[in-house]
Formats: sequence, C-alpha cells, structure tokens
Amino acid sequence: MMPKTEREDQSRSDPFTNFLEPLRSGGFKRFPGRGMLKLLLSEIADSASDPRGLHTPLISAISLQPELTEFLKSIDVRGDLEIIETCQKLIFLESRGIDIVHLILRRQINADPAMEHALASLRRAYLRSVVRQPEAIAPRLFPSMITIALQCFNNEYVFCETSEEVEICREIAAGQWGDDCGVSSLVLKVIAYGMYRPISQLALSEQQIHSLKQQGEDVQELIDRQIRENALERELAAHISSFGRIQDEVSIKVRRQYEEAPYPRWIDLAERKPRQFAAYIGKKFPFLREGLPMGSVDCLVAGCGTGQHSLYVASKFSAATVTAVDISRRSLAYGMRQASRYGFGNIEFLHGDLLEIKALKRDFDLIESVGVLHHLEDPLSGFKALTEVLRPGGFMKIAVYRRSFRNQLMPAKEFVRAHMKSYAATDLRGVRHELIADKSVNLCCTGSSDFYYLSGFRDLLCHVQETSFTPSEIKVMLRKLDLEFLGMEYSDRAIKTAFQAAYPDKSRAHDLDVYEEFEAGRAEQMPSLLEFWVRKKR
Ligand SMILES: C[S@@+](CC[C@H](N)C(=O)[O-])C[C@H]1O[C@@H](n2cnc3c(N)ncnc32)[C@H](O)[C@@H]1O
Repeated sequence: MMPKTEREDQSRSDPFTNFLEPLRSGGFKRFPGRGMLKLLLSEIADSASDPRGLHTPLISAISLQPELTEFLKSIDVRGDLEIIETCQKLIFLESRGIDIVHLILRRQINADPAMEHALASLRRAYLRSVVRQPEAIAPRLFPSMITIALQCFNNEYVFCETSEEVEICREIAAGQWGDDCGVSSLVLKVIAYGMYRPISQLALSEQQIHSLKQQGEDVQELIDRQIRENALERELAAHISSFGRIQDEVSIKVRRQYEEAPYPRWIDLAERKPRQFAAYIGKKFPFLREGLPMGSVDCLVAGCGTGQHSLYVASKFSAATVTAVDISRRSLAYGMRQASRYGFGNIEFLHGDLLEIKALKRDFDLIESVGVLHHLEDPLSGFKALTEVLRPGGFMKIAVYRRSFRNQLMPAKEFVRAHMKSYAATDLRGVRHELIADKSVNLCCTGSSDFYYLSGFRDLLCHVQETSFTPSEIKVMLRKLDLEFLGMEYSDRAIKTAFQAAYPDKSRAHDLDVYEEFEAGRAEQMPSLLEFWVRKKR
C-alpha cells in the first residue's frame, strides 16, 4: 500500500481546525460525543481541501454511537424493518445537505470493524425484505442499498454471509426471483444482488441495462462500476506489452496470486501538487547538493500492482516519465483503467518479471519498489536487477516488510493456515469471520486496512511467498550492492520526532545500525514496511 507520507503534505494548515490534525486517519476508541460528531461532519462538508484524513475518525465516531452499539448487541432478535429504520437513521448522516456517509462508503473501503458489523446486518435485513416484503422497500431506501452495493464491490464482498443470504442470491441469479414483472422489480433485484455479487454476473440484456440506466444517477453509478469496470479491464489486459520471460518458479506462483487477487484495491486518487524532482530530493536530503537530475526524470515503478503507486509517482514530479512494471496483467489493467480515468499520459504499463528488467534496455533516474522484493525467493537478486538499471547517481526508494511487525501477525497467519480450505472467496470470507471471532489471535491484523477487503486479506495473511527484514539485514544487502544509504522514511510524525529526539546528530541518520537500535523495543509502534532511500554511486 502507498505509505502515509504521500498524503502527509495534504493536511490543512487552517489554525481553527488544526486541533483536528491529531485525529487524521485514526479512529476513536470510545464515542467522542455528539459535538465532535457534528464537527467532523461539518468540517468534511465544508472542506475545500482533501478531507480524507477525517473520514476514518468520522466513520469510527458514527459506529461508536451508544444507540447503535446497544442496538447491534441485540440485532439477532430484531425485525428486518426495525433494523433498516434504525441503522438508516444512525449511519447515513448528512451535513449541509451533503450525503457525506454515502459518499465515503461509495468511494472508499471501510476499515472500521463496528461499521462493518452494522453494514452487514443492514445488508441482510435489506435482502430478506426485498424477497419477503418487497412492498416495504420504498425507492427512498434505494440510495442506501446502492451505497452498500458499492461498498461491498469496493471490498470485494468481504462481509460474512449466512447460508440464507447465499441461497437467496443463488435464487436471484437463477432467475427464480424478480424476473417476472416490469422494470421496478428488475431494479430491486439488481440492487439487492449488487450488494452480494457484481451485477455483471446476472447476464442482463442490453435492453435491460438500458432501461435500468434510465432509473437515475444512483443506478447508473452501480452499473458503471459493477459492469463496466471489469469489462474495461479485461479488454485492457489483453493488450499489454511484455518484456523478458517469466521462468522463475516463485515468480510464477506469485503471479498466480496477483492474477487471482490484484492488490491493492483503491478507488480514487488524492490530488497532489507536482514538484521538481531535484527540489524534492534536495529538501528530503539537504546534504545532497550536486548531481541532481534537472528537468525531466525517468522513473521505474517496479511491481506497480494496481497502479496507485505509479499514478502517485507520475503526479509527484513535474516532468516525470513513468515505466510501471508488474508480473500480474490483471493488476496492470486495473492501473491502466485508473490512469486513463485520471488522464495520465506519462505512464507506460508493461508486463514482466522484475528479475528480467534488463530486457527492457532502459535505465532510470529514480526507481521505486514498494512491497515487492519480499515476495521474491531471493530478494537480493531482485534488488540487484533493479540496481543494474539505475543510472549512476540515481535514486531508489525501497519498501520491504519489517520483521518486527510481521512477527506480530504470526498467530493470525498460523490460524489462517490451519483453518483455510482454499483461496476461493467463500473460504476466505469464512476464515476471516472465524478470525474476527477469535480475539486471542487476531491482534494487530484488524488494525490493518488490508484486513477489510478480500485481496488485501489474502495479501496480509496468506501470501504464497514472503520474507521480512531488519535494518541490519538491509545494511548487509546495500553493502553487497555497493549502494549508498540515504535515510529511512518514517511517515508517522510521532516516530520521526522520537527518532530526531533520540539522535539529534543528523549524521547518524545514515547508519542503519542506528535504526536497528532505535526500533528495538518499539516494535508495536513501527509500521509494517521498512521504507528507505538509497543512491547508486557515480
Ligand atoms: C504487495 S503488491 C504492491 C503493489 C504496489 N507496489 C503498491 O505498493 O501498491 C506487490 C506487487 O508486486 C508484484 N510482483 C511480485 N513479484 C514480482 C516480480 N518478480 N516481478 C514483477 N512484479 C512482481 C505483484 O504482482 C504485485 O502486484
């Protein structure tokens, strides 16, 4: 996933709202009160700049409302219509006429466990009502059902399903329900199904799609996302150019995982202001004054996944040409769709194994590879392959799993390994549900946003190939590759400040042993990735 640094410079400097800054991107542990809830809603409604950092606290404040918490405790004995009315009222809050919660849930992946519980219960109540008492589902409820359908599409239908829900969905798909009457029952059927599976699986006729689109913007959005996105990606995947050959056995195994489960899943790109590369590096590493590339920069994003990372690099620098490579065609196609949606003309997506990167016959000023090398059988050989295509004096930003963080996931990973039957969606959902219920093993994994969508869950806890590193092990690799270590990237401000306080002598920031010392005993505060910068000697 994109590290937090990429979002840091978008925080607001308005002194009135500065006190909200510590809340950004963090949820609450207990209900912060109605006043705070209202403040968050109006701040997001008013915000001209990117208010995304406040979405997490808002969603957590909503899900922690005492009325909702109490209601959810006895959800199993409540009637469907009561669930619908209560959850509607408590979840879908608005401010200044803006449907804020709808907007957030449609465009992001919820990572709040209590909100997940509420939405899953509401979804079940909707589905049952749609088939048992459709007359009770008035069109005024459609927007909320569509919001749940889009949220579930975003999270790849990660919510737990009862056998009753599975059976109703099967009946809908088999045409046993909702095919008899006119367009109003078709709308209901499509929205209900879209909450559980992409509606592309319903085999709707062109004529049906056309008449559905006439039902308003909400239904149109559902159709665009759940039918058109996948179709477009399939088309794009068929036309991606390749380089080299994929022969390495582990690469083949890893490719399979990411073909089945492209990662990361993301919807919208945060805006950013482009900067000159030399100014960016000069600010980050003030001790480097000479030999910075002026003008355009050739960048490689190695293992670009679904493109979020490549789009950030392409928009980060004012004159960047980006080559984005990955071993998974489906991931590349996702990135290409998003690049075209945002109008990026400076990214070329290519398919291949980074071990074969030399076959491209290109070299680069900047290489970024985040979350990739630890999935190779021999990360050093991948690092070496990247170093070989880096120009002398060029920069590389690498992020690999941090051992201390990955160790904390071990109980959850072992649980998954012992309980999971296959990588099929049903089995992944099932084991995830069991893990949520077993509080003794889920520990820090429920704190990761990856836990809240299917391919993220797979990436986090059941990867086919992974290793992890300590700062000292990185030091050994850099020595072998003759790379100069420039510094560690601590995107969390508190960690950065603690480091600066512990080592006020700035020259020590270039020694990986110092980071080893600093991180020892702080395992629980450290993020999942060890992220660092290196430079190739001239
Ligand atoms: C965890 S994802 C990270 C994606 C992206 N860098 C990001 O941070 O959003 C790892 C990606 O590396 C790709 N990958 C793994 N091994 C690779 C290899 N040998 N060559 C090219 N890509 C590889 C996978 O297909 C996957 O898309």
